[in-house]
Amino acid sequence: MILRETIDEVKNRLDIIDVISDFITLKKSGQNYKALSPFTNEKTPSFFVVPSKGIFKDFSSGKGGDSFTFLMEHEGMSYTEAIRYLAKKYGVEIKETQATEDEAVQGDRESLYILMNFAKEYYKSNLTQTDEGKSIGLSYFRERGFNDKTIEKFELGYALGGWEHFSEEAVKKGYNRELLEKAGLVVKKEDGSSYDRFRGRVIFPVHNISGKVIAFGARMLGKEKNQPKYINSPETEIYHKSNVLYGLFQAKNPIRQNDNCYLVEGYTDVISLHQAGVDNVVASSGTALTEDQIKLIRRFSENVTVLFDGDAAGIKAALRGIDLILKGGLNVRVVLFPDGDDPDSYSRKVGSTAFQEFLKNNRKDFISFKADLYSAEAGSDPIRKAESIREIVTSIALIPDPVKRTVYIQQTSKILGIDETVLYSELNKLLIRDRTKRQEQRQVMEKEIRAQIPELVTSFSFNPSKVVEIQERETIRLLLNYSNKSLQGQFLGVLLLNELDDVSFVNPTYKKIFEEFLEAERDSRRLDSGYFMENGTPEVKELVSELMVLKYLPSPHWSDKYNIFFPKDDEELDKKAISNVMHLKYRMIQLWSESNLAQLKEAKTDAEVDQLLEKQESYKRADVALSEKLGIASGKY
Ligand code: CTP
Ligand code: MN
Repeated sequence: MILRETIDEVKNRLDIIDVISDFITLKKSGQNYKALSPFTNEKTPSFFVVPSKGIFKDFSSGKGGDSFTFLMEHEGMSYTEAIRYLAKKYGVEIKETQATEDEAVQGDRESLYILMNFAKEYYKSNLTQTDEGKSIGLSYFRERGFNDKTIEKFELGYALGGWEHFSEEAVKKGYNRELLEKAGLVVKKEDGSSYDRFRGRVIFPVHNISGKVIAFGARMLGKEKNQPKYINSPETEIYHKSNVLYGLFQAKNPIRQNDNCYLVEGYTDVISLHQAGVDNVVASSGTALTEDQIKLIRRFSENVTVLFDGDAAGIKAALRGIDLILKGGLNVRVVLFPDGDDPDSYSRKVGSTAFQEFLKNNRKDFISFKADLYSAEAGSDPIRKAESIREIVTSIALIPDPVKRTVYIQQTSKILGIDETVLYSELNKLLIRDRTKRQEQRQVMEKEIRAQIPELVTSFSFNPSKVVEIQERETIRLLLNYSNKSLQGQFLGVLLLNELDDVSFVNPTYKKIFEEFLEAERDSRRLDSGYFMENGTPEVKELVSELMVLKYLPSPHWSDKYNIFFPKDDEELDKKAISNVMHLKYRMIQLWSESNLAQLKEAKTDAEVDQLLEKQESYKRADVALSEKLGIASGKY
């Protein structure tokens, strides 16, 4: 058992921002920090860290706690592992009593890490300390141009030829055979005996995010027939292939600093890029990325640049894999290498400076890349052109951010020489068809609203104008998109303007737009978004274009009822328009009050209770004020 005083000392020294930053990128937000939830796949940050209290809260998964909880939830450590980890990080000497049985069980994973570390050291020393290692392994790496620094950085090694060199050594050091098998370092035969998995190959250790070795890849040296080029560790208790990226440990800080992650296929590509001075690079290890791997990258950057081998056949197949990255909400760029070259061979061919120049000058946004590729292929053939449109719009439809989608539609329209409206209608078709996608969007919007809760709740005094602003925004959105819709003999614009005639807008940009609408209405002119795009100030244009995009998204209120609203759905638009304006703020206040009540239940001190009650009062007041403004009855308090 670790002694209390050790735990207290660790607690005294640690800084939660520092602890969490080793795993995810935090952005400062006022006194606090926020990030995308590392526990779910989200687009808007709902992971908050409050350094003054030493706690984190993830609103998207509900997880929360202190630094220890974070390490347990995020890294799968046990409590003891977390203490040990932090003690080491902050240089605290661990004082403990005899180990209990409990700890022995928890130590299972720990002993795998220890064994893997032993194996790594063993393979490393083979490479430089044995004749076979030097003459075969080391000279192979030399041939490939890897220098000593690189070999050390990636802890490369060599497995001697022969069936039992490693296991004999490990057993001699006191590791039992069962553990060797559990670690995937030996292969068990039918008769119960076992032999080394890796023999006569160079060794590439695979590290987890915190630098512990969890697996090995072993490359053959010659060109023996009937042998796989690589033999890899099997899945074990500490190695799950689908959520590991080769090179991430070495690359995580550079990825954060460059705000970009290069993605390549193999071990040797990663290593060669490091040697060429490009160290923000990871490998998928020959397969398409998994969702977990995409989440891993997102912890460090939202930008991925995929490096393609220059062989035309592979490109189309690879494009499919990229769709998943787009869906994960990452910005994707691509670099294509000249035919016959991969990142490894090309970097060695042209050298470090020219290689870095090449990456800079040849990186292309993925959608434009795809559009170029398909438009070149289609030429002027109308059928193939239609196919190209569908292909590209399919990718665009995967991008979760509607604003980004708009930008891509514009770009694609230019590249293919096709009207934006055609692309939009194709895009909408896809969005409508894909019901699950709509549900996801609904969740994203819910989350966006929810993500605002902690900020508003912790900002002490509740700010009703923020809600009013949301309501104003919705009104403007409806006016811009539907003022010309005729509804039961009345234009929607007229209806809304009459309803809100005496309302003074708070937000100056919304106010400006609204007053222009009013004025035009008095002269019987009917405005639409096009008018503002032509005549508006830059702020107005920016806002209008954003709200036009939202035309293609369901509003939160309607989506609540699972009755998703799209432009075609114009029955009862009038009623919906008004009720939407009114109900939106109900929804928000309900959410805030809900979360406040939950906090109230858990409040410990009188002061806390008082504060929360005060907030509850202010929600009530805000609700009354807003309902008056809208001329509807006050909510359910
Ligand atoms: N791979 C594997 N098993 C194989 C072949 C490939 O696991 N039999 C994985 C490895 O992770 C490898 C990646 O797929 O790094 C890419 O394969 P490839 O390009 O063939 O290997 P490189 O690492 O590029 O090796 P080299 O440059 O020596 O050909
Ligand atoms: Mn290669």
